[in-house]
Amino acid sequence: MAGRYRSPLTWADVTPKSLYMNRRQIMAGGGAMLGAGLIGGEAQAQGDLEPNTWEHITTYNNFYEFGTGKTDPAEHAHRMTIEPWSIEIDGLVDNPGTYSFEQVMDGMTVEERIYRLRCVEAWSMIVPWNGFELADLLNRVGVQDGARYVAFETLLRPEEMPGTRFPVLDWPYVEGLRLDEAMHPLTIMATGIYGEPMPNQNGAPIRLVVPWKYGFKSIKSIVRMTLTADEPPTSWNVANAREYGFYSNVNPNVDHPRWSQATERQIGAGIFAGRIPTLMFNGYEEEVAHLYEGMDLTVHY
Ligand code: MTE
Repeated sequence: MAGRYRSPLTWADVTPKSLYMNRRQIMAGGGAMLGAGLIGGEAQAQGDLEPNTWEHITTYNNFYEFGTGKTDPAEHAHRMTIEPWSIEIDGLVDNPGTYSFEQVMDGMTVEERIYRLRCVEAWSMIVPWNGFELADLLNRVGVQDGARYVAFETLLRPEEMPGTRFPVLDWPYVEGLRLDEAMHPLTIMATGIYGEPMPNQNGAPIRLVVPWKYGFKSIKSIVRMTLTADEPPTSWNVANAREYGFYSNVNPNVDHPRWSQATERQIGAGIFAGRIPTLMFNGYEEEVAHLYEGMDLTVHY
């Protein structure tokens, strides 16, 4: 049940920044390192990112199953039942099966990772996610030779998800990663924010976070993962292949057909704050560029 405790303190009641600083000191005092598990200088760099407030992170969302407006998920996602929850893991794995959320969490090391979420619509947020490395779960179920991709699927329960009555996307929402991307230590399965269980609008009880890719790759409320030999379909690519490729790495040099991807607006920075330049791979170039060596990123966007 790691990461699913309910704290008597609500984050909405406090100044997130001050409590975050507090927590950081507590963690340091307890011998735990903020960002432990991050690689090299990245731990320092990401630890220095100032997180957005709980308010921003939980009220400005994309979760089309609850509507296409930014405030729709916060308004409607409470209708989603998240207990009990299970994830079916199948395809090219040694131990396929339906795992309860508790089984998935059992023995996992949940840690805080502060990552930038950069949406394709050119806004960004800094989120203190709590989660574990996807690689740990994949190693546990045993990836078989021949598996080259991981396909992910979101819950589809129309009676609880008013947005799925509209054919905005092919439901259920699906996403995919190449196996080496999925195994990368920056790729996490997130189960909470600011030490609290994941709010429904952010993808409770468990969602993917791939910090060097546009936000839509970070699929929410996952119920199925399939190891495959072939590249799986992804919702946004199926909806509009010209605008959304399989890789969707944050890349300021490749424009979206309808807008520039070179700068971003930081949510919560205030109306007078200017846009900031978007960094290659969302600032994680040192860690992930080698995954794409020799690939033409204007073709594989
Ligand atoms: N997952 C599902 N199932 N449905 C969605 O509509 N939206 C994606 C991604 N995951 C989406 C999803 C997009 S476009 C973004 S930017 C992020 O979730 C937003 O995550 P956040 O609301 O936690 O900031």
